[in-house]
Amino acid sequence: MEGTKRKLIELLANNKSQSISGQELSKQLNISRSAVWKHMNNLKKEGYVIEAVTNKGYRIIKAPDDLSASTVQWDLHTNWLGQHLVFKETVKSTQLVGHELARENADHGTVIVAREQTEGRGRMSRYWDSKDGLGLWFSSIFRPEYLEPKRASQLTLVAAVAIADYLSKRDLDVKIKWPNDIFINGKKLAGILTEMQAEQDAVQYIVLGIGMNVNHQHDDLHETVQHKATSIYLETNEIQNLNQVLTEILKELENKYEIFMGVGFPVIKEMWEAYAYKIGEWIQVKTKDIWDAKVVGIHDDGALKVIDHLGKQHHLYSAEILWKGEEIE
Ligand code: BTN
Repeated sequence: MEGTKRKLIELLANNKSQSISGQELSKQLNISRSAVWKHMNNLKKEGYVIEAVTNKGYRIIKAPDDLSASTVQWDLHTNWLGQHLVFKETVKSTQLVGHELARENADHGTVIVAREQTEGRGRMSRYWDSKDGLGLWFSSIFRPEYLEPKRASQLTLVAAVAIADYLSKRDLDVKIKWPNDIFINGKKLAGILTEMQAEQDAVQYIVLGIGMNVNHQHDDLHETVQHKATSIYLETNEIQNLNQVLTEILKELENKYEIFMGVGFPVIKEMWEAYAYKIGEWIQVKTKDIWDAKVVGIHDDGALKVIDHLGKQHHLYSAEILWKGEEIE
C-alpha cells in the first residue's frame, strides 16, 4: 500500500471515535488540503463510510468487509505483529514470500496475507486449498532473540493455542490435534506450518503459516476433504468479516508469542493440554508395528506424550500417529 494512504488509515484508525480535521491530516501527512480530500474520496470509492462534518473533519464510520491491505490495517490492534503488513491478491504461497522477505531482512513480526494462494501447501508437502476470499492464508516472520533450533517446533503449538483461544472466546468447542490441526466438532478448521532457517545453535528466523477455512460453504471445500473439514461459517451459520478474524488472531498470536518468549513453553504447554484432542484416549502409533497408545499430553519439548499398554511412557516427534477410528492421513 502506498505510504500516504497507509499513514492516513493509521491516523484515522487512531481516532476512531472522533473526527480529525482536514488541516490536521494535511499537516501530519505533509500534503495539501485538496490532496487530503482526494484521498478521502478514494476511500469512499473503495467502500469506506466516512462522516465529513464542516469545521470538525473526517471520521471513518465503517470500513468495507473486503479483505485488503487497508481494511486489515484499519482493524489491526497489535503492538508489533502485522504492523509491517504485506498484502497480496494472489501468490503461489505466502510461505514462499515469507522466506524471500526474511532472506531480505524483513522485520520481526512481518505478516504476509494473500487473498488467494495457487500453490498453498500444508505439512509434508500436502496441497492446501486456498480459494480467493473464503479463508485466511497468511504467514508471519519471527526472529526470536535466541531460540535453539530444536525448540522451533514449539512455535506451532504456541500458534495452535492462540487460534484455539480465539475460537473458544467465540464459543466454539475447539480441539487441537497434535501437532498442528485445529478441530471443531471432529472436523479440521485450520492448520499451521512452521518452517525455519537456523544456524548451528540458534534460529535465524521462522516463517509460520496459518491456513483457516472461514466463509466456506460445504461445496466450497475441496471434494477430497468435504467429509472431514469445516469452516467458521459452517459452525456458526454466520458470514465472517475476514479482516476482523485475522486481526483478532494476530492479537492472540502476539500475546502467546510474548508469553512463550517471556516465561517459556511450560505455560503454553498447559494451555495446549486443555485443548488436546483425544487426551486420555487410546490411539495407534506406527513404528515398525502398529501399537496402541494412550495420549497423556505433550512433553516439555513439544513431543506428544503417550503411554503404551504396559504403562511405559513414549515421546513421539513425527507424524507416525494414527488417530484411531479416523482416516489415516
Ligand atoms: C497443515 O495443516 O498441514 C498446514 C497448513 C498450512 C497452510 C498455510 S496457508 C498460509 C501458509 N501458506 C502456505 O502455503 N501454507 C500455509
